[in-house]
Amino acid sequence: MKSIKVGLLGIGTVGAGTFNVLKRNQEEIARRAGRAIEIVMVADLNEERARQLVGEQCEVVSDGNLVVNHPDVDIVIELIGGYGVAKDLVLKAIANGKHVVTANKALLATHGDEIFKAAQAKGVMVAYEAAVAGGIPIIKALREGLTANRIEWIAGIINGTTNFILSEMRDKGSDFDTVLKEAQRLGYAEADPTFDIEGVDAAHKATLMSAIAFGIPVQFEKAHIEGITKLEAVDIRYAEQLGYRIKLLGIAKRTEQGIELRVHPTLIPSKRLIANVEGAMNAVVVQGDAVGPTLYYGKGAGSEPTASAVIADLVDIARLADAQPEHRVPHLAFQPHSMSDLPILPIAEVTTSYYLRLHVADKLGVLANVTSILAESTISVDAMMQKEPALGETQTDIIILTHQTQEKNVEAAIKKIEALPTVLGKVTKLRLEHLS
Ligand code: NDP
Ligand code: HSE
Repeated sequence: MKSIKVGLLGIGTVGAGTFNVLKRNQEEIARRAGRAIEIVMVADLNEERARQLVGEQCEVVSDGNLVVNHPDVDIVIELIGGYGVAKDLVLKAIANGKHVVTANKALLATHGDEIFKAAQAKGVMVAYEAAVAGGIPIIKALREGLTANRIEWIAGIINGTTNFILSEMRDKGSDFDTVLKEAQRLGYAEADPTFDIEGVDAAHKATLMSAIAFGIPVQFEKAHIEGITKLEAVDIRYAEQLGYRIKLLGIAKRTEQGIELRVHPTLIPSKRLIANVEGAMNAVVVQGDAVGPTLYYGKGAGSEPTASAVIADLVDIARLADAQPEHRVPHLAFQPHSMSDLPILPIAEVTTSYYLRLHVADKLGVLANVTSILAESTISVDAMMQKEPALGETQTDIIILTHQTQEKNVEAAIKKIEALPTVLGKVTKLRLEHLS
């Protein structure tokens, strides 16, 4: 059978991994795909570096338009990143009838509907396994393996950089900036690392998972996003003392009122497997009504782990390129005419448990005042810890874990608690998920 010809846009961290793995395992991959998969053209701004990486094996250009317009190219892999040139080239490739593979979650989470519509109209595939959780085949699992299920919720550690930072800070006491630089050196971080540390990258991925889990359009703009930059070491310590780990979680949950789509630091019971996922590893728990909870674990970032997912998409396309478009897996798992209009809930409507840290004057009656406010707000307390004031100190911390309640109840209670004269400064609020 004729080989399938691929044009590669961007040969940086993931592009170089893709080129190398495809070359190293070409025979094994061809045996699976049923034909050879050949990169025939590479576009990168740094032509010289690209030439050094690929040798004389294929044509190297600096202008991606030459790749997307080339008549011999069947599949375009977009590994440039961002929404500017990448979007333009992806749409041109689709318009030229080429299939597309991309790892670009930022692009798909913000312009996915437009791109998938264009691909649908043209009868081509846009595959994006590498866009969520690097090398873990979570898109495949959600779109195909779990297709019998009504998916109830998904919770994942889906940003390797922040999990690496949290692990190194907790285990080695390293400081934030040093670990972030190391994550950049290892190729985990985004071109703009604020996307990682402010939770934006995880929100891109959670948005894509919510779309394919619930059959809703991609709605990144409605995701609630908090990163790890405001997280304080003292809360990581107190959480540990109470039997919890803090992880940056991406959560997509179906409720009767709508979909919760949120990314924030989250307390998880230490005994959960996912609480013990360290370094740049990712893990995603999916709760389906038939299968129950399933857990997917692996490298969420880096050159070859991500290349593994990119190449899996190439093989899928090589196998399905000649199939009728209606016989392929729909881009967002559900048939385009069967999408749901379930709304994404604002954060005030979200229901979960909470960790509250109050800094208080160590005076009689403080705790009674706080608990009566919580009771008035119908917030029930699950656990409480009051620290002994340090020697000579007259102030201390109280930590309260609540049972499930709506965010707006907690916000209203916090306002009242902060107004108490014995409560000093702002209350720290973190969300807590039992994942059971
Ligand atoms: P890199 O920055 O390492 O690679 C991007 C490459 O694209 C660079 O070589 C860059 O050249 C080149 N490039 C930039 N602009 C153009 C252009 N206009 N035309 C041609 N080439 C261009 O990024 P990564 O490989 O890390 O990431 C690529 C994509 O994969 C992103 O969407 C990212 O979010 C995603 N991803 C990354 C993962 C990772 O672990 N790194 C994991 C999962 C997904 P130059 O360097 O000269 O600017
Ligand atoms: N910057 C991302 C991360 C890369 O750290 O997880 C993988 O998507």
